[in-house]
Amino acid sequence: MNLLSSRTRPHVNNSRPLALSERAETFFHRPRSWIARLDWATVFGSAAAIPARVEVDLGAGDGGFVAERARRHPACAFLAVERLLGRTRKIARRAARLDLANVRVLRIEASYAVERLLPPHSVDAITVLFPDPWPKRRHHKNRLLQTSLLDACARALKPNGWIAIKTDDSAYFAHIRAAAAASPLLQLWNDATAETLLPEITDFERDFLKEGRPIHFLALRPRERAACAASVPGASSPRC
Ligand SMILES: C[S@@+](CC[C@H](N)C(=O)[O-])C[C@H]1O[C@@H](n2cnc3c(N)ncnc32)[C@H](O)[C@@H]1O
Repeated sequence: MNLLSSRTRPHVNNSRPLALSERAETFFHRPRSWIARLDWATVFGSAAAIPARVEVDLGAGDGGFVAERARRHPACAFLAVERLLGRTRKIARRAARLDLANVRVLRIEASYAVERLLPPHSVDAITVLFPDPWPKRRHHKNRLLQTSLLDACARALKPNGWIAIKTDDSAYFAHIRAAAAASPLLQLWNDATAETLLPEITDFERDFLKEGRPIHFLALRPRERAACAASVPGASSPRC
């Protein structure tokens, strides 16, 4: 599937090849409206078709994870959400360098993206990998993963969708488990493992593994999904 049409890739038809930084620009998604829900066909430049599978990585950092996953799953579309300009530029340059037509970068607060921009029931997977732990008690309110954000993620997911979270921070992990348990829309997906669901290693994870820090993993899925999975053949498959 050609997710990114030549209409949105000016370098394809230009006689002068674009420099990496110019090509990187084409990997940014800048919505015309910041208050309308995203349209996946528009985001990924596939005018005729909505991508069959969409994954969203919240707090994508430098994009090592999303690039590796996009390379391994060319038929899936990947939206990398990151709030820091420098990091979004790195993700876009990486996508351009690797010619990953199935990646787009959105520079925005993750909670705004999930609550206001993701279309309901349209996303196959949401990953939140090594979110900032905000260890001081007075900063806990800044933590991205709260029940309200998880519920908003649940609303964006397709019935077969899932959320996967990794962190090296034990206290934040306990907080995330409690936030998930309080969600009326999500349930733990105990059978899922990091190895089967997300074998790709993130940039931060690589550093943490070198330091010998434990990596905590949690997968969630919409509550109704248990019934769906029982009736839809193959619906329980976690892979793309
Ligand atoms: C610790 S880094 C992890 C990066 C990447 N997921 C990885 O594992 O390599 C956390 C990233 O989340 C981004 N971030 C933190 N809070 C965010 C928010 N509210 N919205 C968007 N990005 C956020 C930070 O800028 C940073 O790049």
